[in-house]
Amino acid sequence: MKLLVVGGAGYIGSHTVRQLRAAGHEVAVLDNLSSGHAGALPADVALVRADLLDPEAVKAALNAHQPDAVIHFAALIEVGESMRAPGRYYRNNVTGSLNLLQAIVETRKIPLVFSSTAAVYGTTDAVPIPEDAAMQPESVYGETKLMTERMIHAFHVAHGLPYTVLRYFNVCGASPAGDIGEAHPSQTHLIELACMTALGQREKMMIFGDDYPTPDGTCIRDYVHVQDLADAHVLAVEALHAGQNVATTYNVGLGHGFSVREVLDAVDRVVGTPLTRELAPRRAGDPPRLVADASRIVADLGFSPRFTDLGEIVQTAWNWHKGHPHGFKQ
Ligand code: UFG
Repeated sequence: MKLLVVGGAGYIGSHTVRQLRAAGHEVAVLDNLSSGHAGALPADVALVRADLLDPEAVKAALNAHQPDAVIHFAALIEVGESMRAPGRYYRNNVTGSLNLLQAIVETRKIPLVFSSTAAVYGTTDAVPIPEDAAMQPESVYGETKLMTERMIHAFHVAHGLPYTVLRYFNVCGASPAGDIGEAHPSQTHLIELACMTALGQREKMMIFGDDYPTPDGTCIRDYVHVQDLADAHVLAVEALHAGQNVATTYNVGLGHGFSVREVLDAVDRVVGTPLTRELAPRRAGDPPRLVADASRIVADLGFSPRFTDLGEIVQTAWNWHKGHPHGFKQ
């Protein structure tokens, strides 16, 4: 298959590009490189530097590369920033996605796999969370992903666009070879921050609240390894290309969670020294427990995550950060 991977130079995109190529597919990437890195891509991948807010450039890329399917990762992803700069998030994530959808139906009506998030659910009592749980996003970021999901479905109904939506839980880890990994302009994710702290780039780890209704009082999340998530994209796009599971939404997670303390304990074991920890107030908008019901993707697509051990997950993140303390060179 020939694929156009939009946002393919980012953290999840770059791991997916690798897995797609390993599965024998031909890949071109469209990315504005606002947070992605050309250095995260194999040197021989065609890279179109363009923005989804430029509809003509998007159409030109579809015409030039003639893909059989599109995978769409390009988005701004920071929950806190989305509350301070909603206009940027709605414009980039919603208008950008709309331009892509419009370009696809105007040029080549090919399948689309879309990166969504567990943030579409907001606080929910469901444990684990099935795909049909109520959706009440608590952030502008989650709202932009939900709006895009709904736009995609409307394009499916009106124009026959085949699609799969993947709702990620807490994506983490890095390529086991340690050569690509997470490198965001501003870091907010627990495992990444803990690695930066272990490298001495931060003084200590803050635990945002230990009075949640969980066994150790800290929040529980479902940490899915980026390489397993990349495999989920390969499965999803291959099924769509074969005409299967069209217009389906899948949670992608392990189906069980780890607490903040369990994650920090695992980091301590992997790096070999205990990080300084400090208890801080709860962070606004953090639900106590977010764990995927991932049974649908297991049943439909045969999703079978290989990284289920927290220590192994953290080890891959640590290998990447230790080898690249300042991220990518380009
Ligand atoms: N945490 C700390 N200290 C830190 C950083 C995080 O205690 O320094 C805690 C958070 O309060 C939370 C947990 O660690 O309880 C995980 O926090 P992250 O920031 O790593 O991830 P989130 O759960 O907030 O969000 C991530 C993605 C969202 C996605 C969500 C789905 O960023 O886009 O997972 O589960 F929606």
